[in-house]
Amino acid sequence: MEKLGEGKTKEVYLLDGQHVLLRFKDSITAGDGAKSDVLPGKGVLNAQTSAILFRLLERHGVETHYVGMEDERTMIVKRLKMVPVEVVLRNVATGSIVKRLPIGEGEVFQPPIVEFFLKDDTRHDPLLNYHHMRYLKLFSEEEARKVEDLAVKVNEVLKKVVEEAGFVLYDFKLEFGRLDNRLILGDELSLDSMRVRDRSGRILDKDLYRRGFPLEVVRDSYSEFLDKLRRVV
Ligand code: CDP
Repeated sequence: MEKLGEGKTKEVYLLDGQHVLLRFKDSITAGDGAKSDVLPGKGVLNAQTSAILFRLLERHGVETHYVGMEDERTMIVKRLKMVPVEVVLRNVATGSIVKRLPIGEGEVFQPPIVEFFLKDDTRHDPLLNYHHMRYLKLFSEEEARKVEDLAVKVNEVLKKVVEEAGFVLYDFKLEFGRLDNRLILGDELSLDSMRVRDRSGRILDKDLYRRGFPLEVVRDSYSEFLDKLRRVV
C-alpha cells in the first residue's frame, strides 16, 4: 500500500481516491520532537480513544474525517487537504499560555479561549492571528471564525463526556482539512492532544511524559482514561 507520509506519531497510507489509513504508532514525543520514546500499546490506546470521540462528535453533528477502523490501531478516514494550523481551545489555563501571558495556572476561561498556531516544529509552532493566516493562505477570516465556532461546539461535547467520565477537560488541540469546500475535523483526539485532569488535579495526559514520569505511568493513565470513557459513551 502506498505510504503518503509519516509524522511523529502516525503513518498515512492511501486506501483509495477518497480515503486514507491513519496508523497510530507506539511513539511518544514532546518538545517538538526533542524528547522521544517508544511506549508499547500507546498506538492502540490513542487510536481507540480518537475513534470513540470522533464517533461521539459525529453523533452530535460535527463532521469529522472518521469512517471506521481497519484494525485496532488504524483508522479509515476521509482524505482531506490538511491545513497546517493547530487550533487550541482552553477551558483552564496551563501550558504555553501561562508562560506567554500574565495569566495564572488554573485560571478558568468562561467563555473558553481559542488560539491558532502554525504547525512548524523548526519555529516551535508560532502563534497566528487572522492577518497571518490570510497572508499565509491558511484560513480566510471567515474560515477562521467558522473554525472557532467548530472548536466551541467540539468543546461542548468533549467537556461533557470528560466530566461524565469523572475528569476535567483543561484544553485540546484540533486540526482541520478541506474536502469539497467544507472544513472537516481531522487528525486525532487523544491524551496526546488534550489535557485532562481529575478533580484533585492529578494529570492523565501527555504532560505526564513531558514532566518525566515513567512510561508505564503514562500508559496506565491513557488506559484508565479510555476505560472510563468507554463506560460513559
Ligand atoms: O504543550 P504546550 O504547553 O507547548 O502547548 P499548549 O499551547 O499549552 O497546548 C495546548 C493543548 O494543545 C494541549 O492539550 C497540548 O497537548 C496540545 N498540543 C498538541 O496537541 N500539539 C502541539 N504541537 C501543541 C499542543
